[in-house]
Amino acid sequence: MPQCRICGSAIEAFMSFGKMPISNGFLRPDEFDNEYFFELAPAICGNCAMLQIIEQPDPAKMFHENYAFFSGTSKYMKVHFAEFATAIQKHHLARYDDPFVVELGSNDGIMLRVFADENIRHLGIEPSKNVAEAACARGVNTICEFFSEDVATQIVLQHGQADALLAANVMCHIPDLASVAKGAQALLKPRGILVFEDPYLGDVVGKTSYDQIYDEHVFVFSALSVANAFGRHGFELVNVEPQITHGGSMRYTLAKKGAKQPSNAVALLIAKETELGMDRAETFDTFRQNCETSRDQLMAVLNDLREKGAKVAGYGATSKSTTVMNYCGITADHITFISDTTPTKQGKYSPGAHVPVRPYEEFIANYPHYTVLFAWNHSREIMEKEKDYTAAGGKWINFVPKVNIQE
Ligand code: TYD
Repeated sequence: MPQCRICGSAIEAFMSFGKMPISNGFLRPDEFDNEYFFELAPAICGNCAMLQIIEQPDPAKMFHENYAFFSGTSKYMKVHFAEFATAIQKHHLARYDDPFVVELGSNDGIMLRVFADENIRHLGIEPSKNVAEAACARGVNTICEFFSEDVATQIVLQHGQADALLAANVMCHIPDLASVAKGAQALLKPRGILVFEDPYLGDVVGKTSYDQIYDEHVFVFSALSVANAFGRHGFELVNVEPQITHGGSMRYTLAKKGAKQPSNAVALLIAKETELGMDRAETFDTFRQNCETSRDQLMAVLNDLREKGAKVAGYGATSKSTTVMNYCGITADHITFISDTTPTKQGKYSPGAHVPVRPYEEFIANYPHYTVLFAWNHSREIMEKEKDYTAAGGKWINFVPKVNIQE
């Protein structure tokens, strides 16, 4: 029987999304035959409440020199990260002389550049070479590594201990959280803080946003599971702040045990999660049924449109859409292309389903009748940008929180 990655208890999948490719593994036709697949099956640990996928592909298959994801592609995300950095600077770093901030998975430097611009000592740790290089090119100090206790020790030897260790949409990617927690203990000063944000389990369950479950997201966190996972390594959850990013995220602040007083928000959120059953099997049985309903309804819409000969496209070749397309059985017969602004994805095909990814200009030049909003987490930005599409009679197909056609 599989074991929980956090506490070692026996765990069992509550559902399977079936065979899945690498979510960011956009590919060329000559690569179709050798595409890698694994079984995407999530489980909830009855002991420590951690939601995790049972099988995860080797990290080297997901994060490498051709990693397709650049954080800086959304304008609201740029604003969000600037606000995150400013909050850390104002509430934590400002009181120290010559503070030092480290970020895990700093991607193209979207957040650290704020510190770099203020001449604050900073260091990014980013395992994907292409994005790490993009960060260095814009003046953000970055090393190309996977974070571990060893790397933490090296950093301390070179730069001294850090006042803050940050991570955004990164922690939930790391299977060996114990190694990160130990590294964070070594890296941080006695009153240093570990602050990270990731998609929040409460939102995933509440909105049936099952597309947050994919290879890179080995965990989907709750306050309960974060407190347990880091509590085992001398950390205490001292604050929680909900975020609207990624369709509903949570920012967790942890401090070394006894160093800081936990806020009321922590106790309130833990009580709410316990009441909602974020640690109970029944909750995830209902979630599974909701996923199946969502899948069946989405396919009913797409099959109907295919029969009518409507032109349907997708918007945003997101990692999340890999789960949706492969779980639901969406093919290039349903969706002729996916529009995406990321140059490294354009001209390639979506993982598993092999739907062509085309530049945004093609969407503009030839509006489809219907568009599946795969990048639903950027809905506000996209609806603002695509007023002309809607005015021209274009219709959006949504699937979070419910499947509907937006007239
Ligand atoms: P993201 O929401 O970060 O999703 P995930 O974490 O699931 O990969 O990715 C958004 C994708 O959508 C990215 O490939 C860029 C694309 N995109 C557009 O094509 N147009 C837009 O207006 C926005 C906001 C995103």
